[in-house]
Formats: sequence, C-alpha cells, structure tokens
Amino acid sequence: MTTFFDELTIAGMKLRNRVVMSPLTRDRATVDLVPTDRDAEVSMLVYYEQRASAGLIISEATQVSTDGQGYPLTPGVFTPEQIAGWKKITDAVHAKGAKMVCQIWHCGRTSHESYQPDGKAPPAPSAIACPDGECFTMEGPKPFPVPREMTVEEIKNCVEQFRQGALNSIEAGFDGVEIHAGNGYLIDQFLKDNSNKRTDDYGGSLENRFRFLKEIVVACQEAIGKDKVAVHLTPGGTFNGTKDKAEEATGNHEYFCKQLNGMGISYLHIKLADDQDERHGGVAIPIETIRKNFDGIIITNNRYHEKEDFGEGDLGKVYDAVAFGRSFIANPDLPARIAKKAPMNEWDHTSFFGGTEKGYTDYPFMDE
Ligand SMILES: Cc1cc2nc3c(=O)[nH]c(=O)nc-3n(C[C@H](O)[C@H](O)[C@H](O)COP(=O)(O)O)c2cc1C
Repeated sequence: MTTFFDELTIAGMKLRNRVVMSPLTRDRATVDLVPTDRDAEVSMLVYYEQRASAGLIISEATQVSTDGQGYPLTPGVFTPEQIAGWKKITDAVHAKGAKMVCQIWHCGRTSHESYQPDGKAPPAPSAIACPDGECFTMEGPKPFPVPREMTVEEIKNCVEQFRQGALNSIEAGFDGVEIHAGNGYLIDQFLKDNSNKRTDDYGGSLENRFRFLKEIVVACQEAIGKDKVAVHLTPGGTFNGTKDKAEEATGNHEYFCKQLNGMGISYLHIKLADDQDERHGGVAIPIETIRKNFDGIIITNNRYHEKEDFGEGDLGKVYDAVAFGRSFIANPDLPARIAKKAPMNEWDHTSFFGGTEKGYTDYPFMDE
C-alpha cells in the first residue's frame, strides 16, 4: 500500500512525501505585487518556509500580467522585483527540502477596470459579466464589470504572457509551473460554455474551447520543458459562475483530460466539485473518471481533511498525491500531524484574505 510518506517522482522532481500544499491566495504581497521578504511585518517567505515540510508547495495564484489581476495584493511574476522576491522564497523552501511550483494565473472577467492599466473593461472570451459575487477591488467590493471580448491578437498576446510567466518562474527558482485553468478564471472562462460564446476558432466546439489552454500549455512547455508544466482543472465546479450544461460536464472533462494526457504535462491537479457546486448547478465528477482519462500523475483536492485517512487509501491507485488547502493554512506542520494522527488547529476564515501576520504566520506547530 502506498502511504503519504512514500516518495513520488514527478518527471525530474522528487517529492519526499505526497502531502501537497494547495494553492492559496492570501492577499499579502506589496502594492507592487512583490512577495514579501523575511524581515517584512507580514512575511510571505516565513509563511511558505513554515509549510515546507510538504512534499510539494503550489504557490498562491500569481499573475502573469498587470491586466490579469482581480484581487488586492496578489503577487505577480512579471517584473524583476517580483521575480527576485519569489527567488528568496523558493530558496528558503528548497533549503527545507520541499519542491515548489508557481501557479500562473489570469483572472479575465473577474478583474475590474480599476486593476486594468488603461482603465478599460477586463479581457474575457465573451462580453458576459461574472454572474456571482463581487470583485474585491482596492476600494472594497464592487459589482463585476461587463468584460470586453478579446481579439485573436489579444489571445495570442496572452499566450505569450503565460510563456514569459513560465520562464520568469524558472528564473525565480520554482521547480515548474501549474497553469490555473480552473475556478472560473480566464482559461476556465474559455473552457466552460456559459462564459464562452465565441464563434471563431476559440469558441463553440470542445476542440475550440480547449484551444486557448492547449496553446498556453505548448508555449510554456516550449519555454521551460515538457516535464515542468502542470495544469489545474476544477471539473464540474461553478466558482465565479462558469459552468457547463449539466448533461455535458462529464463528457467535456473526459475530453480535456484525454487531450492533456496526450500533451505530456507533468501532473494534473484536480479540485473536485462539492455539494456547494452542486447547489449551483455543478456536477460532481468523481476522481475515478479523471483517472480513466489521464495516465500521468494526478493530485486530487477538496475536503480530504474530512476523511478519516485523509485519502491515503487510494494513493497509488486512483491518484498519486493529495493537496490540502485550509488545513495547511491552519497547520504549518500538516504532514507531521497526519503521520501522528495528531489533533488539528482550526482555521480562522476571517484572516484568509489580507491582513496581518494573525491567521497567517502565527498558527502554532504541534510542539508549541
Ligand atoms: C483562502 C483560500 C485561497 C485560495 N486560493 C486559491 C488559489 O490561489 N488558487 C487555486 O487554484 N485555488 C485556491 N483556493 C482553493 C484551494 O486551493 C482548495 O482547492 C480548496 O481550499 C479546497 O481544498 P481544502 O478542502 O483542502 O481546503 C483557495 C482556497 C482558499 C480557502
């Protein structure tokens, strides 16, 4: 039987365990979107270093361009200062023995005019506003704007921004990148049919809706090597109002997984849909369905802290590793707690997004 503490090799990257830190936006970079250093009042470096007993840390979602921003103080990886800030963090994480990849990201329609360099409406596949929730701007929550439909030239330009983001991530010391193609952000807006009403090569058929992601994967693979590029999907998810027709959701994701299977990505990270998604018309597609359509490494996620064995029983059979989100926020030493079946700290959701070191770097370790 495979355990959390059996090594896992993902292409050239050797993980010492199969406990993965899920990508977690915490809104604590500087106003220039630079990751903060050890001596900062609120230190992103200390936060990641504390959690570096994970086998793999997936960074919080990180913009590849200015117009990709949709939340306050989320880090970027497109300026020299941002790259230098990340380099200190990846060095600290590597010194503790974990691997770290950068989750590269563009918000698309969930951005806001106030984040756009030219004050225009944010870019998206189609001019359809995000129907759920509000945009968190620097001035507080505001209604999501109607985005503008990207031209083909803008689509190609965005693919290049992801390519550059991948190159910059390697320069910043990351072991690879994870392309964020889920949770209703730009790439997911292309994949799902209620946010993509295009009639050109990037809309309509499944093949066309997949084209933007495919071009980004290929561009990143050309830039940094096939084995360093992973993809994050949220099949059946409804976050940020993107969804497929219920009767098509499973088939669509079988298609996307099969396509990615043929592209030699380093791993596929799946956030499973849950009852909240189902209440919003989403479809819970089981991880077994993903396994049938993808032969490579699968990292699964969502609420595995609720399982008695944390999902260990299916390791090496249905999936290869488990990503933990909220439980990793609250338990910097999560792998040791899983190993010892020790009690867990509870998370404080009020300090998830932005704020001080409270609820960020002050969660106690087991021996404290
Ligand atoms: C505070 C917070 C921030 C998150 N930020 C991201 C993110 O940047 N990228 C992403 O793909 N998912 C993000 N997620 C989703 C988590 O990675 C994960 O999928 C979710 O928390 C479910 O896993 P869990 O049950 O282990 O917490 C976020 C979730 C939370 C609670």
